[in-house]
Amino acid sequence: MSRGSPSSEPSLLFETARALFSSAGLESPELEARFFADAFAGQEEATIRDLLRRRLAGEPFAYLEGSRGFWKHEFRVTPDVLIPRPDSEVLVEWALELIPALGVETLLDLGTGSGCLLLSIMSDLPDLDGIGVDLSLAALEIARENGDRLNLADRVQWIQSSWLEGVRLPRQGLLVANPPYIEPQEEVGPGVREHEPHQALFAPPGDPLACYRVILNQVADGGPSGFPVLFEVGAQRMEALCGLAESLGFQVVGQRNDFGGVPRALYLCRN
Ligand SMILES: C[S@@+](CC[C@H](N)C(=O)[O-])C[C@H]1O[C@@H](n2cnc3c(N)ncnc32)[C@H](O)[C@@H]1O
Repeated sequence: MSRGSPSSEPSLLFETARALFSSAGLESPELEARFFADAFAGQEEATIRDLLRRRLAGEPFAYLEGSRGFWKHEFRVTPDVLIPRPDSEVLVEWALELIPALGVETLLDLGTGSGCLLLSIMSDLPDLDGIGVDLSLAALEIARENGDRLNLADRVQWIQSSWLEGVRLPRQGLLVANPPYIEPQEEVGPGVREHEPHQALFAPPGDPLACYRVILNQVADGGPSGFPVLFEVGAQRMEALCGLAESLGFQVVGQRNDFGGVPRALYLCRN
């Protein structure tokens, strides 16, 4: 396969990829091969071989391509950040309703990763300022790059911190967060455990709500009465998280399902 040789042409690359993906047992070989050919046809032979090798080793397609669509934009992703999931779009949708209704001026996104939540919301609300926080400097670099590409650099601040440790809650703020909530022994999708950052995925063993507890305690400590919080929640964790929040001095204002019908987003206010 050299540049311009038959197998770098879309139809032949599609056939090659489909055969390889089928025999490797990938879930949707035909569809994947179509995406693969559309994305990489015309590339150098060595590059195509390397991309095929990586996909056959289970690396998610988004890391091969270096981007993933979320809400209305493409976000750059690398193995330093979680690949944005469509489930999380319910948070964007809800925040876009709450921010004008509550008169929110600054959105604080804890565990921003690629910045997909913060930047999607900010790009739909031109008067909103944003703060993106992550423990991972490498993730913050990707988030910054995404913010620059969406022309949001002058409205957003990036901070390395463990949750709210080095950050003040903004006045007229809304906190959004999608913290790690998977237990280390839980089953995850193909390639997830091997390729996505564990710091973004896993809560401590036996304590899937640990990150929420830290964040809620920090808000309870320094936050004004009525401060709003919008969380993404793991499937089957909604009830336990509502109980935890109430025990820490928060009112459960509402919850919503994701587009697949799974309880996914929780809106709380500090008492
Ligand atoms: C589930 S990912 C969410 C990423 C992105 N917000 C999204 O929805 O796609 C969780 C994020 O929290 C970050 N994180 C983990 N522990 C943290 C901590 N102690 N303080 C701040 N961020 C943390 C991870 O680096 C990761 O980017």
